This record gives sequence, C-alpha cells and structure tokens, in this order.
Amino acid sequence: MKLPTHVRIVDVGPRDGLQNQSEIVPLDAKIKLVEMLADAGVPSVEAGAFVSPKWVPQMADTADVMRKITRKPGVSYPVLVPNMKGYEAARDSGCEEVAIFGAASETFSEKNINCSIAESLNQFAPVAEAAIADGIRVRGYISCVLGCPYEGDVSPEAVVNVARALDGMGCYEVSLGDTIGTGTPGKAQDMIAAVAKDIPTDRLGAHFHNTYGQALVNLLAVMQMGVAVIDTAVAGLGGCPYAKGASGNVATEDVLYMLDGLGIETGIDMDKLLAASRFISTTIGRAPASKVGLVKLGADITS
Ligand code: HMG
Ligand code: MG
Repeated sequence: MKLPTHVRIVDVGPRDGLQNQSEIVPLDAKIKLVEMLADAGVPSVEAGAFVSPKWVPQMADTADVMRKITRKPGVSYPVLVPNMKGYEAARDSGCEEVAIFGAASETFSEKNINCSIAESLNQFAPVAEAAIADGIRVRGYISCVLGCPYEGDVSPEAVVNVARALDGMGCYEVSLGDTIGTGTPGKAQDMIAAVAKDIPTDRLGAHFHNTYGQALVNLLAVMQMGVAVIDTAVAGLGGCPYAKGASGNVATEDVLYMLDGLGIETGIDMDKLLAASRFISTTIGRAPASKVGLVKLGADITS
C-alpha cells in the first residue's frame, strides 16, 4: 500500500467544531483550546470565522481569539472569511492565513452564505487578491463534494469547476469537504481523481465529516492517491449549522491513532491531544465523539 510518509493535520475543532455548539463557549476556553492543540504539535489550528454574528453567534469573538492567543512559532491559525468585510476584520486582528469557502452545490451555497456559487466566487476573488497582496495565505474550501443535504448526489465535475476557480484565485491548497459525511471510498477516490487533473494531490486537503462512520476509510482511500493534508476536529466536535444532521469532522485522536499505526509522521503527541480533547469535552459537557477519546478518557468524562 503506497501512502504518504508525512501528513499535515489541520485541526478545525475550534471553528468547525464549536460553530455548531448552541451554548456559547467562553472566550478563555476557546483560547485555551487553540493553544493546547498547538502545544500538542498540531501544525495548523483553525481558530475561528469572520462571518456574520447573526448567522453564527458562536464565532462572534474570533477577533478576540486571534488577538489573545499566544502563537507558537511555525503554527498556522487560519480563519474563515466569506467576503471583504470578513477579510478586513481578519487582517486587522493579525491573521496570517484566511480560508474562503465555496460549495459544489447551489442550494447549499444559498443556505450557507446566502448567494449562488457564481456570486460567491465573485466575492472571494477580491478577498484572495487583497490577502495575497497583504502577504496573507489563502486556503480554499469546497463543501458538499460527496453529497448535499438538499440536492443529494453531487458530480465530480461540479467540484472540479469550483476547485479550478479557487486555484485560479491563488489558493495554496483546496480542502475538499464531505460536509454531511455520506461519501464512501470509491466515490472519494473518483472525486479526487477528477480534481487532481487540475490540481496536484499534494495541494489538496481531505475534510471529511464522520456522519456515517466512513471518514477513516475514505481518508485511507484518498491518502493512497497522494492526499497528505487532513482536516480533523479534536474530540470529533461539531457539524455544520447549514447541513442538518451532519455530525462532526473525523476526530483528530482517531486519525492520529490510524496514522501512528501506519508509521505516518504528524508531529502530534497523543497524550497532549487527549488532554485537549478532555478539556473541551469537559467545557461543553459532552463526551468526546472519538473512539480513542472514549477508550482513553471514558464516556463519563463530563460527570
Ligand atoms: P448576508 O445576510 O447575505 O450578508 O450574509 P449581507 O452582506 O447582506 O450583510 C448582512 C449583515 O451581515 C450586515 O449587518 C453585514 O454587515 C453583516 P447588519 O447591517 O444587518 O447589521 N456581515 C458581516 N458581519 C461580520 N462578518 C462578515 C459579514 N458579512 C456581512 N464577514 C454572509 C452573508 C456570508 C455574511 C452570511 O451568510 C454568513 O455569515 N454565513 C455564515 C456561513 C458560515 O459560517 N457557515 C459555516 C462555515 S462553512 C462550513 O462549515 C463548511 C466547511 O467546514 C467545509 C465542509 O465541511 O464542507 C468549511
Ligand atoms: Mg466542515
């Protein structure tokens, strides 16, 4: 089995994980979570989103998170930005990496960011241009790459069209989101094969939610094709507020357990990662959604 020797983990827990929490997580806890993940050796910690606080109240304090975290040298702290208003706020709070987030499904795009795919790309273009001119790295996301909660099946061609556009804007990497976790390994490989005709696999990320328990096997399938960037969420936190029923991203602990077992280097320390999992699970009063977390920390962690 041909696999990468090194995988870069992007822990999106503080953003993708917490954005869906109904009770507001205190600012100090967000800061501590970001810092604990970086301390565990996670090379990229997605720290928040500069989106409308009316749409996603949980992310309203991202500027404070960005201003108050103690940054670890070499670690990236990307944030989501949907438009120039979000970009300017991100830049002003000292962000060094932003992520623009499109979708391969028209209906999801409308529900998530209130505009069509074409309109969203028109809004992202000036963001990418300004960020690159300001020396800020730009990551691109595509949601619904393996299925949409409103439209069902999504074709690889629909993903390719958005990937090309994001690549053309200068995104250094495109993260492919199975937002509702309905994908299976063959479909995941077909989608990667289609996108890889335009963008090499070493510039693609896999962002798989684990709703149907398929995320690990889908990750193994796409790693065999050369994908070596994986988005995860500590404790398997989260879900997307605009994708009903979607559960969290694949848990960082579960992915790390698999990668450690395969001898794939990540630079992440499992014990420190589990401490972060324990911390956020206790803070939100919910047992971790990760298998490794349940075994190592226990289902009664919150009591
Ligand atoms: P809109 O209502 O169409 O925007 O929302 P608007 O331009 O008409 O502005 C309406 C109000 O929002 C105005 O305020 C603006 O100032 C404000 P008001 O005058 O009413 O007081 N506004 C903003 N405020 C703060 N930051 C901004 C901003 N922009 C406008 N950047 C908008 C459009 C995109 C803002 C809205 O739809 C939104 O914020 N959506 C949130 C989307 C989101 O965060 N979704 C979850 C993340 S995506 C995801 O989870 C998928 C992913 O993980 C990959 C995967 O799993 O597939 C990435
Ligand atoms: Mg997501």
